[in-house]
Amino acid sequence: SSNLPLRKKKVLITAGPTYEAIDPVRFIGNHSSGKMGYELAAAAHAAGAEVILISGPTHLQNPNEDIKLIRVQSAMEMFEATTKYFSEVDVAIASAAVSDYRPRISATQKIKKSSEIMELELVKNPDILATLGSARKNQVLVGFALETENEEENAAGKLERKNLDFIVLNSLNDQGAGFKSETNKIKILFRNGTLKAFDLKSKKEVAQDILTEIIGLLNA
Ligand code: C5P
Repeated sequence: SSNLPLRKKKVLITAGPTYEAIDPVRFIGNHSSGKMGYELAAAAHAAGAEVILISGPTHLQNPNEDIKLIRVQSAMEMFEATTKYFSEVDVAIASAAVSDYRPRISATQKIKKSSEIMELELVKNPDILATLGSARKNQVLVGFALETENEEENAAGKLERKNLDFIVLNSLNDQGAGFKSETNKIKILFRNGTLKAFDLKSKKEVAQDILTEIIGLLNA
């Protein structure tokens, strides 16, 4: 029905940061709060979807007990969980701020302070979204791009490389947009080159706008 436009649909969402362990007490992370992804999960659930939310470390609670919340720490764990469920979903939205690199070695004991200069060797993490992009059959696939410069050009490249239906741009340059904020200001870039700009809104309203676009694609 129009009340539950995602009834009988399965939606997978990645959210939050990833933590890449350096040793048992330290990690490499980022400032992602997870809010955007959790709002997307709540909105998809409210629209009737079966929701799988794969989340890095956040302070947020599961928006609804019917949402299957899988908590992970690292990019590798997020990769495992996401690729495990992807084939059974109709829609995947990658809103997680995945660490591009991880320490090559995670020390089993706390690293001791010693020399003046300390080097940490990093290796690349798999690109979760790009992996979904090459595996996808009929699924709708949506990504995010957070840029500090050349945002539209960079987003267009990601849309193409990761084989997405559309990419959501949020700029750190916009007041009230991005990581810890309650609000967000987005643009959506589609495969055909159309760029839709939205006003500054609550993340809840932004989630609704994104879902409306996804529902449009599912019904096209
Ligand atoms: O390439 P970049 O990290 O800027 O792309 C951002 C998009 O790709 C986001 O949707 C993010 O969730 C996803 N991504 C991912 N796995 C990575 C890196 C990014 O799923 N390792």
